[in-house]
Amino acid sequence: MSVKSSVVRVERRQDGVCFQGWIRKRPPIWLLWHSSVLPEGVPVEKPYYQRHIFFCTNQRESGKAACNNSGVADAMAKLAKQRAKDLGIHGPDGVRVNRAGCLGRCASGPIALVYPEGVWYTYVDAEDVLEIVDSHLKDGVVVERLKI
Ligand code: FES
Repeated sequence: MSVKSSVVRVERRQDGVCFQGWIRKRPPIWLLWHSSVLPEGVPVEKPYYQRHIFFCTNQRESGKAACNNSGVADAMAKLAKQRAKDLGIHGPDGVRVNRAGCLGRCASGPIALVYPEGVWYTYVDAEDVLEIVDSHLKDGVVVERLKI
């Protein structure tokens, strides 16, 4: 473990899998950005973003279900990005809000997905999206009621 300004680098090995990451001392958020089978001594970079949220903005003309058929997903992605900016967490060392194509869970949509935790969400309205940004993206607390 090595100390670098306000973060602490950690490495854990379990069953031949190396998990490497940083723990930010303040606030105490566990930032795991890399987990794979790595040989000893492979250098790991600090992540460029702490978290990514992907909004599925796929539309389908065929009438089949898609997250953005009504245009709501695109509007919610814009809302989330603006909220992240207002909170001062948008950008490098913070959060990135991305639009994505179909994420493969259309029947549960509209879908948003947060990494590195890999948490899948659905939402109904702006209040739900703002809660995901405020709780998960900003504070690292998963919004259980919106998980799928
Ligand atoms: S259309 Fe959104 S997950 Fe498939």
